[in-house]
Amino acid sequence: MSRKVTKAIFPVAGLGTRFLPATKSIPKEIMTLVDRPLIQYAIDEARAAGIEEFIFVTSRGKGALEDYFDHAHELEATLKRGGKNDLLDILRGTNMDSGAIAYVRQHKAMGLGHAVWCARRLVPENESVAVILTDDVIMGEPPCLQQMIEAHGETGGTMVATMEVPMEKTKSYGVLDVAEDMGAIVKAKGLVEKPKENPPSNLAVIGRYILAPTVLQNLNKLREGAGGEIQLTDAIADEIVEGREVFGLRFRGQRYDCGSKAGFLQATVAFGLERDELRDEFLDYLNEVVSMQRAAE
Ligand code: UTP
Repeated sequence: MSRKVTKAIFPVAGLGTRFLPATKSIPKEIMTLVDRPLIQYAIDEARAAGIEEFIFVTSRGKGALEDYFDHAHELEATLKRGGKNDLLDILRGTNMDSGAIAYVRQHKAMGLGHAVWCARRLVPENESVAVILTDDVIMGEPPCLQQMIEAHGETGGTMVATMEVPMEKTKSYGVLDVAEDMGAIVKAKGLVEKPKENPPSNLAVIGRYILAPTVLQNLNKLREGAGGEIQLTDAIADEIVEGREVFGLRFRGQRYDCGSKAGFLQATVAFGLERDELRDEFLDYLNEVVSMQRAAE
């Protein structure tokens, strides 16, 4: 059995150019699905999986993200005075324990691998660490990272979340070369970042990882990969070259690519429909819109 995973890295230092002009002043991770910022979904998933220490890799212009985790004492007192206990509970649910969050800075957006490498000194040398990309919001029960930590408890090694995508979309993802397909878990014999041609499979890597300590050491090479960026996928692929095991977990759940506008809109609809207080009104509206669109065609 591998050691418990209690730390997670949240790389949030990307430029978020697909959401310009919003991301000119708002960090992408603060954008909201219904009423919760993307980062809150990621934190809730990590907590559910037993994560106790949260490491954010931030960058210039991400101050609002750091502020989000401060306790809002005045607001709490006002809600308390007004007897607004439901809202108070929601607000308190976002509070983080003192010392549970650490921030490191990525001075230049040099790729996801580089962002994770920036956090290397905060992870003890013998500990596996989770990585969560807040762009990938996953609706699943149990939450995706919990599924992964349970599976990783059996397999050890490094584990990535994976899902089938259409072959023509593989060029946008890290893709697994499968050595052994055991159903929910696959063992990889290789990983390729954004293959331009001949993808080894249609199993794409999604933004959840449990990294063996050696992956952070592999990142020390700071080797440029696809798109001239330092790729996490390459450091994971090095594990296989060096004889260590890498697995993919076909997680149960629906993933939304909130780094893209279409994915973000889809997630807004899905999470809106999940809310008891919104469902009926929202569904009526959606049906009306669809009927009007059909009639106009
Ligand atoms: P993306 O590839 O989605 O890039 O990064 P991005 O900059 O966030 O967005 P676009 O493409 O310009 O719209 C995937 C994840 O990796 C982080 C991002 O913050 C995001 O969570 N990342 C990426 C970093 O932290 N640093 C980097 O240098 C690159």
